[in-house]
Amino acid sequence: MILIDGKKVAAELRQELKKEVAELKIKYNKVPGLTVILVGELAPSKIYVKNKEKSANEVGLKSEVIRYPDSVEEKIILDKINELNNDSSVSGILVQLPLPKHIDKQKVIEAILPGKDVDGFHPMNVGNLSSGYESSIPCTPLGCYLLIKKIEPNLSGKKAVIIGRSNLNGKPMTQLLLKENCTVTITHSKTKDLKGECLKGDIIVAAVGMPELVKGDWVKKDAIVIDVGINKTDKGIVGDVAFDEVSKVAKALTPVPGGVGPMTIACLLKNTIECFKRSN
Ligand code: GUN
Repeated sequence: MILIDGKKVAAELRQELKKEVAELKIKYNKVPGLTVILVGELAPSKIYVKNKEKSANEVGLKSEVIRYPDSVEEKIILDKINELNNDSSVSGILVQLPLPKHIDKQKVIEAILPGKDVDGFHPMNVGNLSSGYESSIPCTPLGCYLLIKKIEPNLSGKKAVIIGRSNLNGKPMTQLLLKENCTVTITHSKTKDLKGECLKGDIIVAAVGMPELVKGDWVKKDAIVIDVGINKTDKGIVGDVAFDEVSKVAKALTPVPGGVGPMTIACLLKNTIECFKRSN
């Protein structure tokens, strides 16, 4: 079984990006800039944002985090986004989710200029991705896609089963695999025979947030299994895949942690650089 080392692949990607940033600096006499907006004090969000900032600095991006208390008014955020949209030193804007309930998430996402939307959440980017045009691609599915391609460069005709239909993961993952000529099945909480569907997959991407949902006897021999889950349990952090069982049947499997997570952040940096290049 191939243990897919996301930490290592992400470190290699960051090395490539660092080189690219250095070249862009020579060519344009400036570097891409990433601004992250963090509202409130949620511990996971604070950890993600800290890691994003650290990685951005490592590859030589200009990086800024703007923090607001949980009680901040929606208008303050929208005004700040407007200011960042008009700031030519800012290539990418990311508003860390989730947001407090009194802030309209969709309004915030739509306030970001599509060309600076490094998350790929703006309807314009969602539409462009689904139509096969150039767009920002959400970081987590992009990271999963790059890991899958490392294991199997030719995905044409493969059957992919995606567990979870979120805008963050399941839907954009579908688009990326469709573009590679996979036959894609999206499953979700109302799917009748989830085990039966999974057993048909040459590729399985689990992104539902249910600890160790995917069991060893749900997986076809030599399938590629990507685990997007990060679930807190009594025995620590586990994914959506029962790692020990599935590792006995799969051809390749991502661990949690150290699989998809590091790739998500590396892809955010990649998206920031892409936004910079498109705007110059
Ligand atoms: N919160 C958890 N994952 C993400 C992500 O990919 N982007 C943003 N903006 N917030 C998140």
